[in-house]
Amino acid sequence: MNRVIVNLDALHHNLTAVDGWMSRHGARWTLVTKVLCGHHDTLAALHALGVRSVGESRLDNLRSLRDIDPDQETWYLRVPSRTSISDIVRHCNVSLNSESEIIRGLNEEAERQNKTHHVVVMIELGDLREGILPGALVDFYDQVFHLPNIEVLGIGANLGCLAGVIPSIDQCMQLILYRELLELKFGHKLPLISAGTSATLPLVLDGQLPREINHFRVGESVFLGTDLVNGGTLPALRDDTVSLEAEIIEIKRKSLIPTAETGAVAPFSMEQENEEIAPGQRGYRALVGVGQLDTDIGGLTPENSAHQISGASSDITVVNIGDSPGGLSIGDTIRFRPNYAALVRLMGNRYIDRVVEPDLKSFRQTLPGPGTVQLAPVVDPPGEEKGGVEGPGADPDRHPRTARNR
Ligand SMILES: Cc1ncc(COP(=O)(O)O)c(C=O)c1O
Repeated sequence: MNRVIVNLDALHHNLTAVDGWMSRHGARWTLVTKVLCGHHDTLAALHALGVRSVGESRLDNLRSLRDIDPDQETWYLRVPSRTSISDIVRHCNVSLNSESEIIRGLNEEAERQNKTHHVVVMIELGDLREGILPGALVDFYDQVFHLPNIEVLGIGANLGCLAGVIPSIDQCMQLILYRELLELKFGHKLPLISAGTSATLPLVLDGQLPREINHFRVGESVFLGTDLVNGGTLPALRDDTVSLEAEIIEIKRKSLIPTAETGAVAPFSMEQENEEIAPGQRGYRALVGVGQLDTDIGGLTPENSAHQISGASSDITVVNIGDSPGGLSIGDTIRFRPNYAALVRLMGNRYIDRVVEPDLKSFRQTLPGPGTVQLAPVVDPPGEEKGGVEGPGADPDRHPRTARNR
């Protein structure tokens, strides 16, 4: 059987560590769970740990979250399409936006649903995905800040997701200045600067990030431990949260390189590192029943460092396992660590089982009490006046509803 295993103890560890970094920085944060593709047991475990603010980009996943806890705060991270407006208002508390026409649509829909919808205005800072150009910010804001059923929580940016732009202090300072400009010009406070993704965590750890950056949307580093800027794993995080276990369906000693003429015939040809393989060299090759249809095979690393992926077709991956079978036979499994690209495809794949370890019930029993992490809602955190969105040491003026000039 092929399955993805989510290690809940490792996930708990990473969540607690990142939550500690956020509190030390004085920021709130939202856990970006979209990589789980709505996997119920992992989402339920996160809820049991105290996660109450989650970021998603698929409406179906948001519905799964609402099934676990209808009051959970949900952030819609993909800029909304016109056709998704009514669902976004129904299922999400906050959305990230860069089109004024869409914000007007959200306002009309929120009025129909008798709600206030919260938005963060996204600014383009170089990664060239979503975001309005800084020069258009004042006009844009002028069009949206007075809408009666819209609450502009603040401004934000997305870095690293498309072009791989590395977040810098300079970009964060730009955001701080843009907020000052809007606050001075329009005379009311914008409580949130939501600048962070996993790629910002190294700056947080260095203690370099200005405290005005007070909201983060973090996914990958929690689920995989990744240090997106320097490579490897962030200090104190675990990289063993998720494994792919794939069943061996053939194991035989064969030549390690093709024994006949090759051409551009294979649809999924992968770069093979053959330099260390001598002509005619033989070794054990294990075939596992997971292929390119299931995941990004190039994003898998065998957990056993002696194993090496030789190649993959749509349904089969071939692993060179060495000069001996190493105790493996058919029916046994080989384990791999997925990177983010591989993981997201595995989690969205209907052919692969996804399980948590320990099982949800046993995991819940290991927890000392409800909500060990306390990742609180950003918009209306418990114990604060309605509308409070600042972290510890907050400026009391920056309350979106109380400071509002409608
Ligand atoms: C808008 C937005 N914010 C935050 C994130 C989280 O990024 P990461 O998983 O690198 O922490 C993503 C990516 O999934 C995103 O698209």
